Amino acid sequence: MLASCGSGKPLRYLDSAATTLKPSTVIEAEREYATSYTANIHRGHHRLSEIASEKYETAREVMGRFVGTAPRNIIFTKNATESINMVANGFGFTRSDVVALPIGEHHSNILPWMRLCELAWIEHEVCAPVDGRTLEEVIATNRPRMFVFSSGSNVTGAVNDIRTLCAIAARHGISTCVDASQTASHEPIEFDQLGCDFLAFSGHKMFGPPGTGVLAGRPEALERLTPYVIGGGSVASVTRDGFVLRDVPYRFEAGTPNISGVIGLAAAAQFLSAMPIEERRAHLVTLSNQMSERGVRIPGARSLMSDQPDRLPLVSFAFSTPHITSDTVATSLSENHNIMVRSGSMCAHPLVHRAGADGGLLRVSAHLYNSLDDIDETCNAIEEFTTRFS
Ligand SMILES: Cc1ncc(COP(=O)(O)O)c(C=O)c1O
Repeated sequence: MLASCGSGKPLRYLDSAATTLKPSTVIEAEREYATSYTANIHRGHHRLSEIASEKYETAREVMGRFVGTAPRNIIFTKNATESINMVANGFGFTRSDVVALPIGEHHSNILPWMRLCELAWIEHEVCAPVDGRTLEEVIATNRPRMFVFSSGSNVTGAVNDIRTLCAIAARHGISTCVDASQTASHEPIEFDQLGCDFLAFSGHKMFGPPGTGVLAGRPEALERLTPYVIGGGSVASVTRDGFVLRDVPYRFEAGTPNISGVIGLAAAAQFLSAMPIEERRAHLVTLSNQMSERGVRIPGARSLMSDQPDRLPLVSFAFSTPHITSDTVATSLSENHNIMVRSGSMCAHPLVHRAGADGGLLRVSAHLYNSLDDIDETCNAIEEFTTRFS
């Protein structure tokens, strides 16, 4: 999937929680749009525009099936961050409204709410999922209007029980928004069964192109949402005095969208759906078990990883020696071993602070294309570094 760049060692890509590699069908779908039927969509009656519009709307049907809902509940965005911002800015919050959220969230699922509302933080152990009882307590104390949380942690791989948590929120009449960025390519979504109002994810973390994302919503929830970007493509009519919005989902897709990206995203969904889910799960569990086993044995490194059986295949390391930083380890792995891993605070400062790892973490994240050998070689390389510099 990715060409090696000449160090002699095989290239090992272990940064899939940041972005995944892209299968050739995705690249081909984008190339075909660029070379065979480039045109704008929904606003022309020439042949190429009609082909492009049809492919774009077919992509919405494909993504509806992938997400487990009707195509009209699917809004194309540029990434999860934009999807979450659409909800935050369109929901009609006032400054005194409260949004409840776990401490483990990614900044993209903190800042949009923080700017508009009061936050009620839900505490949890660093490597643990959100506990229903703690959620109940936070609801009782803070009376939030919305509860937002991620399906899986980009730092520890812990996965949240979406149905249970959303059922608790629903019992209290609280709206829900799920950030499914880290699990969209791991587990089928089944949106209509989850009981959440909104669900957001990025295309580039699920084998699709960058600059693509999805916001799925329950029909009533989407009807109540005000589009926070409007313009061409989002209105049915405009007079000197006002405008009439188009129906959902088009009112949320103002301006020319990422047409080739959306078509590529549908190809990614088809690529994933064509693989039997039991095979996918089995491979991901094998990888995460190996990470867990090898990770705890690296001297000078503290591993942060969920112990759930269905955790995500990712582990983060904090280094106990002050002169070893996660950045220097990542650079060494890249330059000396041709291994790509992520370093830094993972856009999750509250959790990283809670973990006592303000100096930064090194994250190893695998996906379907990785092997046990990739995990072993990466752990060997980290161990070699920590042993040499301790
Ligand atoms: C859990 C989680 N939420 C949201 C995001 C934001 O995704 P994007 O940058 O594609 O909008 C990320 C990206 O790492 C993530 O891991």
